[in-house]
Amino acid sequence: MRIREPKVVSALPELGVELRPDAALTQLTSLGIGGTTDLLVIRQRQHLPQLVALLREHGVVFRFLGGGTNLLVADGELPYVVLQLARPIHDVVIDGAFAQVDAASDLGRTVTYCAKNNLGGMEGLIGVPGTVGGALRMNAGAYGMQIGSYVREVELYRAAARQLEILRGSQISFEYRHTSFAPDDIMLAVKLELPSKAFREILEGIRVCNNKRRSSQPLNQKSAGCIFKNPPGASAGRMIDALGLKGHRVGGAAVSDRHANFFVNLDHASSADMHGLIADVRERVRAAHGVELENEVIFWKD
Ligand code: EPU
Repeated sequence: MRIREPKVVSALPELGVELRPDAALTQLTSLGIGGTTDLLVIRQRQHLPQLVALLREHGVVFRFLGGGTNLLVADGELPYVVLQLARPIHDVVIDGAFAQVDAASDLGRTVTYCAKNNLGGMEGLIGVPGTVGGALRMNAGAYGMQIGSYVREVELYRAAARQLEILRGSQISFEYRHTSFAPDDIMLAVKLELPSKAFREILEGIRVCNNKRRSSQPLNQKSAGCIFKNPPGASAGRMIDALGLKGHRVGGAAVSDRHANFFVNLDHASSADMHGLIADVRERVRAAHGVELENEVIFWKD
């Protein structure tokens, strides 16, 4: 979608928004799949309510993009513009056991920055690509931990109320890869309370998790992490693997040879290729195991 309305285009700089016309979502997502649209990079988030009001007033449909690492976007000219927070300059501020973190911060860098300040707990998240805001929204977790356990406060823009709000951790429910945030809430910052641990001890935990991840996941290929949630008490990856589907392809999309719940963009996969592969694998698992796998990856289908 192209923003043509001169009133909108001319108002953007005052709101601290940079317009990047015809941005390619292939460059903004870890799967490397997706069409093109105007990208609005938000540099002054205090103006978010005015920005949203402006876009609504002029009928500009928008979606909000975090790190793009858990997302499958449609191909072609997209019928919406994409909003994204600019990378912050000062992204983590430590105060005792608390870390105040900008939502656009890189998750891995945040884990290591906290570690250097002797704050641990998030070792399992090392190697998970994406932003802290994305991790928060999905309640990202690995190796027995989830980020939600450490959340004490979240600053967000609530599209329904059309205002900036601060929620206490106790007001948010964090479940397995699911939270009580509304789909159109925009995460802005989070206050984490982390256990105090010696840097060397945290580093050792990070090393162990890194090794486990490297040996079991296709980290150097284009993917969106796990495609399906694990059904209660079972492993989607193990079920897919048991059907001999590693390497199974639809067009340029394939089930990873390394981890069967990772689907990779091997060779210029289209969105249709990836959707085709997901539907095919889901159907085979349903037929063989009687289990309907639920998506973990988020679809922007139209
Ligand atoms: N397994 C297979 N074949 C495979 C993949 C896995 O047999 O192709 C077996 C493994 O040998 C193991 C079991 O299945 O016995 C579980 O595998 P793994 O330890 O890799 O964990 P997972 O349940 O597949 C979950 C998360 C990952 C997270 C890891 C590590 C989900 C959907 N996935 O994977 O998170 O990194 O545990 O804690 O919850 C993600 O959310 O995108 C993600 C990658």
